[in-house]
Amino acid sequence: MIKPHGCDTLKPLFIDDESQRNALLDEAAALPSLLLTSAAAANAVMLGGGYFTPLEGFMNLADMQSVADSLTTANGTFFPVPVVNLTKDASGFNEGDRIALKDPNVEGNPVIAIQTVARIEEVSDETLTSVAEAIFGTTDKAHPGVSTFLSHGNFLVSGPIQVLNFSYFETDFSDTFRTAVQIRNEIAERGWEKVVAFQTRNPMHRAHEELCRMAMNDLETDGILIHMLLGKLKKGDIPAEVRDDAIRKMVDAYFPENTVMITGYGFDMLYAGPREAVLHALFRQNCGCTHFIVGRDHAGVGDYYGAFDAQTIFDEKVPAGALEIEIYKADHTAYSKKLNKVVMMRDAPDHTKDDFILLSGTKVREMLGNGIAPPPEFSRPEVAQVLMDYYQSLEAETA
Ligand code: ADX
Repeated sequence: MIKPHGCDTLKPLFIDDESQRNALLDEAAALPSLLLTSAAAANAVMLGGGYFTPLEGFMNLADMQSVADSLTTANGTFFPVPVVNLTKDASGFNEGDRIALKDPNVEGNPVIAIQTVARIEEVSDETLTSVAEAIFGTTDKAHPGVSTFLSHGNFLVSGPIQVLNFSYFETDFSDTFRTAVQIRNEIAERGWEKVVAFQTRNPMHRAHEELCRMAMNDLETDGILIHMLLGKLKKGDIPAEVRDDAIRKMVDAYFPENTVMITGYGFDMLYAGPREAVLHALFRQNCGCTHFIVGRDHAGVGDYYGAFDAQTIFDEKVPAGALEIEIYKADHTAYSKKLNKVVMMRDAPDHTKDDFILLSGTKVREMLGNGIAPPPEFSRPEVAQVLMDYYQSLEAETA
């Protein structure tokens, strides 16, 4: 099986042993505490589940800057985005202390992890802005990832963590949330050797569905991991539970049995385009996947990235051998009125724009808002129904 990133076995930082976990929870009750940002809590969930192997905790300033500049930590581990715990106030504890990290996303802010504080470093606004520029390609605060990153605070609290739970993901998405350890084990149990992963934050429309089918056929895989983001999104994106329902109905109706694993991971969307695509590939390798689909405007937002920047970064900034997972680079996929099927545009060179059905996300949202189902060439009827129900429930709420 494909090796995890940077080591021979996964390094989940979740404490598996229940009695040890309970002992740590007892210890936490007497420790100084820090209420995490949602982004840092999501980092803890990813570290806990083994997704961010081989990291052992939150990065320090030298790591963050090195990752921003050259996609490697200070000790040379390839990593495309900083995994940090930034806070506005670090006055309640000192370097060397053990601290209880509290979860901002669960009522009562229970302890999600214990951190052994290695360093507390104050980071200037200029440094944070330059890191944001390297990761997001912009310092524009209208970019949702930039504004979130720059809102966390100026104190970087680094050091190893022991994770005690998986936040709300375990309870709210019990059928879908899986750790990298669980996914790797399930792939091994199924006996799958060649597995392609599909990242999504959207209900799967026809273009997404066919992209998965094309990748499975072209690569002759044993199966596909549909792996959806379950964490926080920008306003206007479809909530995870609605998307999960739509994806399950679509897969049930249109994919052969035992060829698809539908799963999700607990992370907030960064909207970092190319850098996030590399992170996405890295953690799918940790899940045991051999291939990863990167299509058009992967993890993008607005017009901040070129349509295929998230593909070219793998040639330009990922050194050979840094990742073992291979990238399936897909062209823009759309329904051809001439051929009556979804195709990659590069495979239909005789077509003009008018030969395709191209609907933007905004247009689809507009249609749904007006009670109009997206056309069958764009969405399967099962998916359209789930979305119509969701939009109607929104209207009922605001009525
Ligand atoms: S993402 O932010 O999670 O990347 P989305 O769920 O829309 O957004 O996309 C999931 C994957 O499908 C990404 O690899 C994206 O590039 C790809 N994709 C989505 N729509 C298309 C399309 N029409 N043509 C080609 N690739 C697409």
